Amino acid sequence: MTGTRSCLAIVLAAGGGTRMRSAQPKVLYAIAGRSMLGHVLEAVRKAGGNGAAVVVGPDGEAVAAEAKRALPNAEIFRQAERLGTAHAVLAATPAIARGADDLLVIFGDTPLVRPTTLARMRAALAQGAALVVLGFRPKDATGYGRLVLEGGTLVAIREELDASPAERAIALCNGGLMAFAGATALAVLERIGNANRKGEYYLTDAVAVARAMGLTAVVIETEEDEVRGINTKAQLAEAEAALQRRLRQAAMEAGATLVAPETVFLSADTKLGRDVVVEPFVVFGPGVTVEDEAVIRSFSHLDRAHVGRGAQVGPYARLRPGARLQQDVHIGNFVEIKEAVIEAGAKANHLSYIGDATVGAGANVGAGTITCNYDGVAKHRTEIGKGAFIGSNSALVAPVKIGDGAYVGSGSVITSDVPADALAVARGRQSVKPGWARRRVPTKAKSPAKS
Ligand code: UD1
Ligand code: MG
Repeated sequence: MTGTRSCLAIVLAAGGGTRMRSAQPKVLYAIAGRSMLGHVLEAVRKAGGNGAAVVVGPDGEAVAAEAKRALPNAEIFRQAERLGTAHAVLAATPAIARGADDLLVIFGDTPLVRPTTLARMRAALAQGAALVVLGFRPKDATGYGRLVLEGGTLVAIREELDASPAERAIALCNGGLMAFAGATALAVLERIGNANRKGEYYLTDAVAVARAMGLTAVVIETEEDEVRGINTKAQLAEAEAALQRRLRQAAMEAGATLVAPETVFLSADTKLGRDVVVEPFVVFGPGVTVEDEAVIRSFSHLDRAHVGRGAQVGPYARLRPGARLQQDVHIGNFVEIKEAVIEAGAKANHLSYIGDATVGAGANVGAGTITCNYDGVAKHRTEIGKGAFIGSNSALVAPVKIGDGAYVGSGSVITSDVPADALAVARGRQSVKPGWARRRVPTKAKSPAKS
């Protein structure tokens, strides 16, 4: 039913970050690897929103850029002066005037709102409400607007500063999000005044205004976690914890095994396949996909990487952006992979750096191998052929190619290409001088070494 209705979201993201004690705009802080603004816009998209109007403050360049990155068709509006939440919504008047069926108003600092809740608000509009308020019952109501009901009908929202003692005792509070029927939204919003203690245009006054116009306002309730507003670093950490709980739960429901879920940190877009095992203490940055039956062992850190089916990673592995591991690859302890394709069945089990490279199927990269990809000016590629064997402690100085089935002797510094099936050894030849050590310090040979 909401599927055929058009929907515009107005996202308020104008400043308000002073309590973060930070130079960064508040809505750009990340939770589970995604900005708060990104979470809100993603929820809008999932709830069937056709567009978003993001209201930024006078210096909102970075916020505008993030909005465009998260949702390319987002429109940006500027609120020059901070005169209140209703005033901020009206900054997007040109977008509102286009007349979408549903209008959602969301705060950029309320990132945990679920798409299903937005959809419930839209459904209430579809059933004829002119205004839908998202209510909740906080443990501590301080600072929230109270929902005033008469005979079960919402008649007003009272901001705490303006509330009587009786109104302050109301447990049901305003989560901040609202939905308006597009047809009457502007008429309601334009009638909101600023006769209150703060002298601000309060969005919350929309309820009393709508009622005076003979329109219906309804409340939909949700849990506190979803409407947490983030104003401080401590609240940011609480929101992170709440979202991590949700993501871990979802990963386990999708068939991944998290041995100690509370120690695994996921990103909002992490994808773990069926029967993936994640050992304790693993961090997934954004953009990670892990295919079925792969094992990610303890203390590994993955960021914009792909792990193929049945592959093994870690313990203590680091997969950086562009690491693409195909099926059954083994990446072991203290191995760092960046911008490299590791083909099926290849192994790099110990202490290596593989960057800007291709490692052919079934190749074996010995302990301590380094691809020297950077010459101080530019990055260069290393190509290791299928079934090649790179002896331990080798340096492959890029650009360089190691042919299929080739063999590099341990401790080599390889600066030119090695043909397929060849042996390359590039190190000082060992010379042995019998008796030399004994002759060098005659007294040492007689007395045992002191430690
Ligand atoms: C608001 C609600 C309150 C609700 C609470 C939930 C109003 C008047 N009050 O209060 O009922 O319980 O949220 O968290 O709406 N903003 C602008 N421009 C402005 C003012 C605000 O863009 O001129 C943005 C802020 O950046 C923020 C949002 O609107 O994202 C809410 O503003 P804030 O000052 O945090 O309102 P609260 O006092 O929390
Ligand atoms: Mg707030």
